Amino acid sequence: MGLEGFDGNESILYHLQSPCRIREVGPFEPIVREEWVPDAHAHRHFRTIGIAPAGDEISGRQLLMWNDDVELSLCRPSEAMDFFYRNGEGDEVIFVHEGSGTLETIFGDLSYKAGDYIVIPRGTTYRFTSDGPQRHLVFESPGIIQIPRRYRNEYGQLLEHAPYYHRDIHPPNELKTYRDGGDHVVKVRVKDGYQTYVLDYHPFDVVGWDGYVYPWTFSIHDFEPITGRIHMPPPSHQTFGGRNFVICSFCPRKLDFDPQAIPIPYHHSNLNSEEMIYYVDGNFSSRKGIEIGSVTLHPSGIPHGPQPGLAEKSIGMTETHELAVMCDTFHPLRLTALAQGLDDGQYAYSWYEQPEAVKEAKSADEDPAGVTSHF
Ligand SMILES: [Fe+2]
Repeated sequence: MGLEGFDGNESILYHLQSPCRIREVGPFEPIVREEWVPDAHAHRHFRTIGIAPAGDEISGRQLLMWNDDVELSLCRPSEAMDFFYRNGEGDEVIFVHEGSGTLETIFGDLSYKAGDYIVIPRGTTYRFTSDGPQRHLVFESPGIIQIPRRYRNEYGQLLEHAPYYHRDIHPPNELKTYRDGGDHVVKVRVKDGYQTYVLDYHPFDVVGWDGYVYPWTFSIHDFEPITGRIHMPPPSHQTFGGRNFVICSFCPRKLDFDPQAIPIPYHHSNLNSEEMIYYVDGNFSSRKGIEIGSVTLHPSGIPHGPQPGLAEKSIGMTETHELAVMCDTFHPLRLTALAQGLDDGQYAYSWYEQPEAVKEAKSADEDPAGVTSHF
C-alpha cells in the first residue's frame, strides 16, 4: 500500500490471502451531514463534556465542524466494534482525551492511553478494543497528515530541536497473524460513505510488513514546549500538518522569561484561517462556563485575543498548566446541528467587559484564561 502512485511513502504487507478476495459486496451507506448555518458570524464556545455516549468508535463519531480539508468529530463510544474498519479516502488522527485500549491493526497491535494522538494512515485496516469509557477528538482528512517539514532534515529525520523525537513515536508493538476462516465484515470509507464487504477470512492475515506507512501513537505529554524571552506564536506548538490545516498542542510550560514580558498572546486577526481549540485539562474552574471539553471557535475575518484585564494580570506569570489541542484551518469551517446544540451563545460578548472570574482570580494559575489566551 502506498501514496502518490508509486512515488510516495509505502509499505509492503505479506498476506496469506489475496487482499482482493471478498465473499460479498454489502451495502453502501452515504455520509449525511446536518449543517447548521448560524444567523451571525461570531466567536463561539461549545460545551462538549456532556455529549451522550453513542455507537462504537466509528459509528459514534459525532461531527462538530468540517470543511473540504478536515472533519472534526467527538466520540464517546458506548458499544464495541463488531467489524473491521478502513478509511479508504483519508488520514485520521484521534486524540484520546479519556480512555485506553488497543488499536488492533493489520500492522499489529497498537496500545494507546489518555493523552495519545493515534495517527492512522489511510488504507490501514483496524478495530478498536477499548478498556472502559472513551472520549476521543477525531480528525479525518482527505489530505495527508504528516510531521511538519520544518521539523525534519533533508533525509526526513527529525531534527533535535523539534518538539518531539523518534523515541516519542510508538509503532505497533506486536504483529498478530490470524488464520481464521468464517465471515468477517470490513467497512471501508470511500466516496463519502461506508462500503461494507464480507470476507471469508480474518483481514489481519499479514505475516510481516516493512515500509514507511504504518499507524503510530504520540503522547501530548511528550511534546516539548518551545518557549522564549517574549511570546512565541502558535506555530511553536505545531504537532501535525495537514492539507490546509495544522494541529497544535498547548502543553504545561514555563512562560516568557523577560521580566517585562506579557506572557499571553497579543490580539490577532487570523484573516484567512479558522481556529478551533479543544480544552483537555488545566485550571479553568474560575471561569464561569469554561470547562474541560470546551471547544472555542474563532472564525476568520475578525480579531480575538485576551479578554479585558488578562494581559495586565498575566504580567509576572511564570508557568501555565493548561493542556489543549488546537486545529487551525485555512478555509472556513462549517458547523453541524450538534454544534448548534452545544453553542453557549454568549462567548462573542466575553470581550465586552472584564469577566467576574478575572477580577476574582487570586493567582496567576487561577487565571481563567489559560495561556493559549483565548479565554
Ligand atoms: Fe488565536
